[in-house]
Amino acid sequence: MRIAPETVALINQQADIIEVVQDFVSLKKKGTNYTACCPFHNEKTPSFSVSPSKGIYKCFGCGKGGDSIGFVMDIENYSYVEALKYLAKKYNIELKTDENQTDEELAEQKERESIHIAMEFAQNYFKDLLTHSEMGQAIGLSYFKERGFKMPVIEKFQLGYSLAEWDGLLKTAENKGFSRDILEKAGLILQRENKAYDRFRERVMFPIHNVSGKPIAFGARILKNDPKQPKYLNSPETAVYHKSRVLYGIFQAKKSIRELDNCYLVEGYTDVVSLHQASIENVVASSGTSLTVEQIQLIRRFTENVTVLYDGDNAGIKASLRGIDLILAQGLNVKVVIFPDGEDPDSYLKKVGTTSFQKYLQEENQDFITFKANLYQNEAKKDPLKRAEMIKEVVQSIIKIPDEIKRRVFFQECSQLLGIDEQTLLTEGNNLLRQEKFAAPQPILPQKQPTEDAQEDTQYAEEEKLSPVYAQEKAIIRLMMRYPDFVLEDTSTKIGDFFYQELKDIQFENDLFREVFEALYKAQKDAPGFQSQVFIQNAAASWKGLLVDLMSERFELSPQWKEKHLIHIPTERETLGNSVREHVLRMKMNHLQKLIKENTRQLQEAKTEEEQIKAMSIGLRLKQILQQIAGHLNNTILKT
Ligand code: CTP
Ligand code: MN
Repeated sequence: MRIAPETVALINQQADIIEVVQDFVSLKKKGTNYTACCPFHNEKTPSFSVSPSKGIYKCFGCGKGGDSIGFVMDIENYSYVEALKYLAKKYNIELKTDENQTDEELAEQKERESIHIAMEFAQNYFKDLLTHSEMGQAIGLSYFKERGFKMPVIEKFQLGYSLAEWDGLLKTAENKGFSRDILEKAGLILQRENKAYDRFRERVMFPIHNVSGKPIAFGARILKNDPKQPKYLNSPETAVYHKSRVLYGIFQAKKSIRELDNCYLVEGYTDVVSLHQASIENVVASSGTSLTVEQIQLIRRFTENVTVLYDGDNAGIKASLRGIDLILAQGLNVKVVIFPDGEDPDSYLKKVGTTSFQKYLQEENQDFITFKANLYQNEAKKDPLKRAEMIKEVVQSIIKIPDEIKRRVFFQECSQLLGIDEQTLLTEGNNLLRQEKFAAPQPILPQKQPTEDAQEDTQYAEEEKLSPVYAQEKAIIRLMMRYPDFVLEDTSTKIGDFFYQELKDIQFENDLFREVFEALYKAQKDAPGFQSQVFIQNAAASWKGLLVDLMSERFELSPQWKEKHLIHIPTERETLGNSVREHVLRMKMNHLQKLIKENTRQLQEAKTEEEQIKAMSIGLRLKQILQQIAGHLNNTILKT
């Protein structure tokens, strides 16, 4: 379903961020803003702040932030559309759906809806067979019971059983009016030369749910010994099931993950169900494949802490180390727990019992980087030639961490742990970063494909936060967002025009920032009454995270503080003219430095004397300009 733009506009207009947040969090007024302890992470002192004038919320602890719609999405784990529905209801706004949808889009939407209904039907069908059919009880249910799954947990995961028939589901579904076409598209039946038959037969059924609890696929485990058949048979990809975006158990786990601010990651369906049986509910499974960025982002909606539970075989561990770098790169904190050789979480739990298992998780969890350092150090002890590899492996993981302070801590810690000078590790880190930059000039961001449930991703690229140019470019669009009406005194140009004129020959490195810069310039030029709040509301979902960041102020000094100390601290607005100039000069400096680097390369590659001389004279000129700009910059900074 797509909601009509006029409805979205109405919701944006009427939704009051304070009212919306207040339904979930009790807010305290503080100055012009409201604060509370953040509902998205554990904290004792409030760093969650809501600004009624800007229409946004922001947590300075965990970084979450957004407008009313974003808040409802975050707190209820709703999709964009679900959040709109919620707000429409709250404010008694009639929900109009988009009439501009093409026939094709309408057909696709209808197909997805039909698939959802078919999957719901199938889930109930298999569930019913488990408890009501003779074979289901005798084989399926007794198997689950033997594994220690009690009725409440079987019910919670909607487990089921499929009979040893070729068309049990097909017939029942057709009687209920489902077409073969939809059943096939749902991945429930297979059709070959006019013959149609059930995909899942004689297996116990694990429905896979999306975040809102709808069944979108099945994992089906065989019970008899048949080497010709796979142990698990899984649904194919369908219009509603994209394997790389789903984690088994996320629906059942999300509440607990948020409350405990940690997510256990296991491999198998049975590990998830077993842990729930033992009252450990903050657990999801990657279902035997390596983790994807989308799956990590799914976890990040609930927590920033992941604990990976590993089966105890060494080969398996090493194979999955790379996958963990991916988690680090998404800014999550990773711990690991290793089980004794040959045990998976499920089997170990059964062996030692709930209490000891819980204790094991508490006591045996180690930080991932430390774990990896130890792992490689043990190897390097046996084989000194592996020392270089060890350094590389460990540093490789550390540089994935986006947060600079955390990175520093790990460099120090690993330096001690491995007995290697910290500077050596840092140098290696820089080498690796450089290599990576050349190998992959563009930061890798997941390609989003719109689906009905796809959460619009409000995170913008984290990878580039390391570079000074990144901060520079961001600072410029921040000033444009916050002070759209500011006019530079001596030239009487508006801030947007000034930046645009001064920077028109300089390419922004960051694509997102460049797009936002241009959009802001246009919006401010065309409409004299530019309002940042409206700009945010109408912005693409992928921009919102950035825009909200730009608008939220961390270090706003309270007026009381100034009065108490009787000092004058210039506000940003008072020194704005100078900082605008400073930013322009810094952008120019960065740009020149790039040109100089390029020039140096040309000089090295020059083949003739003529080429050399030409490159040298250009280089000289560039350096002169650089010095001039540096001079201006010093003056500007001194004035501030
Ligand atoms: N898996 C799969 N297809 C297979 C084997 C495994 O999809 N042929 C996935 C399943 O999601 C499974 C996970 O990989 O849950 C882990 O596999 P495994 O450890 O073999 O299964 P368990 O879940 O531990 O099942 P059991 O305890 O019943 O052996
Ligand atoms: Mn197992």
